[in-house]
Formats: sequence, structure tokens, C-alpha cells
Amino acid sequence: MDNPSVQIQGLIPADPSPWEVVPPGEAQATQTIEAALAALVRAGAANGPARRDAHPKAHGCVRAEFRVLDDLPSSLQVGVFAGSRTYQAWIRFSNGFETPQDDKIGDARGMAIKLMGVEGSSSGTQDFLMINNPTLFVRDAIDYVAFQGATDHPLRFFFPSWNPFTFRLRELWVMRAIISQTVTNMLNIRYWSVTPYLYGDIPCKFSAKPAGPAFAFNETVGPNFLRDNLAKSLNAAEATFDFCVQLRTQPESMPVEDPRIEWREADSAFIPVARITIPKQSFETQEQTAFCENLSFTPWHGLDAHRPLGGINRVRRTVYETISRLRHDINATPREEPTARTPL
Ligand code: HEM
Repeated sequence: MDNPSVQIQGLIPADPSPWEVVPPGEAQATQTIEAALAALVRAGAANGPARRDAHPKAHGCVRAEFRVLDDLPSSLQVGVFAGSRTYQAWIRFSNGFETPQDDKIGDARGMAIKLMGVEGSSSGTQDFLMINNPTLFVRDAIDYVAFQGATDHPLRFFFPSWNPFTFRLRELWVMRAIISQTVTNMLNIRYWSVTPYLYGDIPCKFSAKPAGPAFAFNETVGPNFLRDNLAKSLNAAEATFDFCVQLRTQPESMPVEDPRIEWREADSAFIPVARITIPKQSFETQEQTAFCENLSFTPWHGLDAHRPLGGINRVRRTVYETISRLRHDINATPREEPTARTPL
């Protein structure tokens, strides 16, 4: 496994930040997670191409524009949001479960955004990974290992013994909140970063909210209706989202090290800082699907000004890198970040 203190080319350096507290056992837990996920990718590749271990099912990968809002107050003109400009972007919509499954089954729904032409980012890109819920069902790497160990019997993670003090009720509540959502159109729902990032020198979270009228394509016929509804929607009209930031105002109730806890909007509102426009398009060519499959998103592609914070993000630094390298090696496909000029 890569040593987290080593700078991997293209990623934000892993220097410790003053906002974080690393719990004992995190490095060991990260290695365990990485080894387990790599084994799953290798096993899956026995029957076809190697896929992402998480979010393998893409509903579509679409071209987008990410326009930083004009006239942001100077306190919000930070990182990619400094100065009004428009970035060319790719957005990949996905289901979270480790193997592709019917869209009717409750699941985390992902929206991964990749801005291109980002000066000062060693990958040249800035990624924002979000799902359709503000919180996560694990607190840290150590809990994630327990969750992984219980995947055959998920209830064992929530109720590890008869002792009520060991019950993970908050986690059960979050899991329920994620999988009980009825999602029929990926363009009609809201997404959150779940884990914190820096906004200059303030911890923050991000969220994307649909900004235009809701799309009417909500059929649930067939196992891939989310792709069908996305394609129909974007054949008919452009889609828009407000990309918003929530700055941490109260360290006690807005923790950096615990993504199970929602940062309440009553304590700090989400403020729009950019407008995402997904132009009317047809995205279902074989070439574009392959391009999308070969992209690598990670919270650690980007500017130091948006450095990921907290234990779950620290785990993700090496895990996403390892899994992405592994699947590209197995598939013998080049692993490169797109630029605004990448042909497609
Ligand atoms: C310890 C916690 C986590 C682990 C181990 C993990 C693991 C992974 C892995 C291995 C991938 C595939 C990477 C690749 O092959 O390119 C992935 C993708 C993804 N993850 Fe996570 N993840 C974690 C937490 C989260 C959280 C908190 C979010 C919430 C925003 C999230 C959202 C996503 C999304 C949206 C993708 C798909 C990116 C794409 O479209 O390619 N993950 N995750």
C-alpha cells in the first residue's frame, strides 16, 4: 500500500492539517480496507473488465459547464471560486453498490464532477464527489472495517452483540435514509459531499441542488431506468444545478472527524457559489461510455485550497488511487486526467 505521507503524483499532498485528529489504528484499518477492496476488484475481473469497487454502475457521463458566480463576496473567492470563470467539466452519475444492480433497489446515488483546466492543481483537475444524502453510516476507518466485515450480514454491523451499548443506531438511521429514497431521475435530486473540505482556511461541505424545473421523465420500467430517464431528459432540455458551499461556523456541532453528523443548515446555510449547466445532449455513444469508465475521480484531485479533511477522506486518498490503478492495469487502459482539449 502507498504510504499516506508520500506525495502521490497528481494528488494533494497528505500533510497533516490542524483541523484533524487521527485516531489510533487508522493506518492499519486503511490497509485492511484497501486489501479487501482490491480483492473484490480482482474477483470481479474474472468475469469481464475490472470495474470500480464502489459506484461501478454509471447512468451516464455527461459534459457540463461549471460557472463560478459573478460578484461573489471576497471571502468566498477562494480556490476554483476565485474570480468569475467557467470550467469545462464531466459529470458521472452512478449507483453506489459494489456490483451493478436494478435501479429499483435502494442505493446511494452518486454525482461526481470533474473540472478541467484548473491551474495550480497537480492533476490539472478539481473533483467534487457527492451522494444523495448529507451523512454517512460510518464514522471512521475503524468502523468501515467493521462494516466491511459484516457485508454478508449487514445487521451484524448495526447490532454486533446483544449488548444495547454496542448497537449502532445512528448508523442504521443513516443507512435507512440513503436506501429508502425513491429516486427516479438523477437530475431531480440533491447531492452532498458528506465529508468536509477546506474552503481556503475554513472547513466546509459542498452540495449541488437542482436549479431548474423538475424533469418529467420518471418511468421505472426496466433495470436501468435511471439511465433511460437521464438520456430522455437531456435529449429534451438542458439541466442546471446550484453548486453551494456550507462554511463551518460552530466547531462543536459541525465535526470534521464524524461524517455521521449532519452540519445543520440552521447553523450555517448552503450558499450558491457556482452554476452547473448540463447542456442538452446525447451521451450514449460507446466511445463516451468507455471514456467514462476509464475516468478516475478522487476527492484528492484538486487545489490545496479545497483539501479534503477528516478520517474518511484520509482513507479515500490511498484507496481510490490503488483501486483506480488496479482496474486500469487489469484492463490495460491508460490512466490519465482529461483536459478541456481531450478529444471526445
Ligand atoms: C471509507 C469510505 C469510502 C471508501 C473506502 C470508498 C471507496 C471508493 C472507491 C474504491 C471508489 C472507486 C474509485 C475508482 O476506482 O476510481 C469510489 C467511488 C466513489 N465514491 Fe467512495 N468511498 C468511500 C466514501 C465515500 C463517501 C463519503 C462518498 C460521498 C460523497 C463517496 C462517493 C463516491 C462516488 C460518488 C464515487 C464514484 C466516482 C465516479 O463516478 O467514478 N465515497 N469510492
